[in-house]
Amino acid sequence: MPSVKSNSIELTLETESPEKVHTGVLVVGAFADGPLPPHAKKIDEASKGKLSSVIKRGDLDEKAGASLLLHDLPGVEAERVLLVSLGKREEFGDKSFREAVSGAAKAIAGGTARDAAVTLTDIEVPGRSQAWRVREASRLLADGAYRFDAPRVKTSKKDRGVRRVTLLNSGKINDEVKKALRHGHAVAEGMALAKDLGNLPGNVCNPSYLADVARALGKEFGLKIEVLEREDMKKLGMGSALSVGQASAQPCKFIVMQYKGGGKSKPIVLVGKGVTFDTGGISLKPGANMDEMKFDMCGAASVFGAMKTVATLELPINVVAIIPAAENMPGGAASRPGDVVTSMSGQTIEILNTDAEGRLGLADALTYAERFDPACVIDIATLTGACVIALGNITSGLFANDDELAEQLLESGNDTGDRAWRLPMFEEYQDLLKTNFADMSNIGGRPAGSITAACFLKRFADKYKWAHLDIAGTNAVTGDAKGATGRPVPLLSEFLIGRAENRAWGTTTGTRAA
Ligand code: BES
Ligand code: MN
Ligand code: ZN
Repeated sequence: MPSVKSNSIELTLETESPEKVHTGVLVVGAFADGPLPPHAKKIDEASKGKLSSVIKRGDLDEKAGASLLLHDLPGVEAERVLLVSLGKREEFGDKSFREAVSGAAKAIAGGTARDAAVTLTDIEVPGRSQAWRVREASRLLADGAYRFDAPRVKTSKKDRGVRRVTLLNSGKINDEVKKALRHGHAVAEGMALAKDLGNLPGNVCNPSYLADVARALGKEFGLKIEVLEREDMKKLGMGSALSVGQASAQPCKFIVMQYKGGGKSKPIVLVGKGVTFDTGGISLKPGANMDEMKFDMCGAASVFGAMKTVATLELPINVVAIIPAAENMPGGAASRPGDVVTSMSGQTIEILNTDAEGRLGLADALTYAERFDPACVIDIATLTGACVIALGNITSGLFANDDELAEQLLESGNDTGDRAWRLPMFEEYQDLLKTNFADMSNIGGRPAGSITAACFLKRFADKYKWAHLDIAGTNAVTGDAKGATGRPVPLLSEFLIGRAENRAWGTTTGTRAA
């Protein structure tokens, strides 16, 4: 991959007894109240009550994911024991399980031990199977080891943290559990790619760079790759997508990747917004935090990530990825407010705000998707600031013209903690896009900004089942730990795995306990 490198860890499954494991750090969980879970109990017995006395003293914070590092416990082979809080027993569920695993992942990623044994997947989670626990844990542990150290960006970082993690299970390790480990790991690898692409600066990760990444992925996994240039796009009549990058010195690219694992079945099409930097164009954005607009290609990044996961797992489905990639710049050749463009669908658009550019690229990508006769199309985009206002950084916005597809995506989000929430696209909202000068304008005013953006896209997606994920709030975090989150790769991957397994959605997900 061109100057992007993700840090991969090794993950294995074992059934050994915890006190006998030779490892740098052994991770055991304990509830803030109530008896010790089986693995912790074994360590407590082997060390003649050391764990229970530490807990009795009140040294372990109650909050799930808080941890305490204990050295040289007598009777225990591991060099260190990381005691992780599972929170209150009564409240234990998906959330505290994930918090405990993530807390452990964070602690061992920053520590000196190079290998670890983790016992947390042995702890029952209400309504969830062992396979689910292993899938979640392997993803969270591998993701916790992620570091951004692409060359040219930051010079030399000290190599720390675990590189090998073993999941200790007392239960049987059957094929389903082994598969769960592979799945979780592959999703984390997809997330790492999405994070790397998101974190790269706009002067490195431009449309041509994304095209190169597509070609590299194509080579590695045998995907069919096509990159349409400006001239090709002109021939197809993509006046809408072309308008976005027309003032940039970086040529726009229209990237198509095809993964074929599903024979003659209809493909699932993923469309990712690939604005590699969004200045707003002539409708220039304010200066504060504008650097964060390098994350405006995170929809595309999540599509790259999901493609990598699907190809790694060789899922028996067909998936097409479409990325309209462009840089939104002001300049002499830029679109002006009031310009009218003709989309590939033939519908005309009055560009009233050049900062509502994502939908202009997506519109033509959605029309282009028709040629694949898709089973469904899902677009993923950092589309609106309004979505951040509505749902914050916790939840992605979901819109769909098909209830079943919406339900499947919501369930995939729930199963992975990468959650979305559905918002309406009632016909009445379409009126907000009315203009005297074209079939529609590209903005609908401030009220319901995410909804009118989705309603705009809907006009280009009426030939198939379609869903739109607005990830403007969930794609990246700001502040001290600024960076891409890799979302919604977990949601998308879970959805694709579910489709590959012909999952009976809504009844049992295959990841829930029977
Ligand atoms: N990329 C932005 C949306 C965005 C905002 C993503 C904040 C992440 C954080 C998008 O292109 C945009 O500028 N949208 C405008 C639309 C408006 C002009 C109708 C917005 O949300 O302000
Ligand atoms: Mn914009
Ligand atoms: Zn944008």
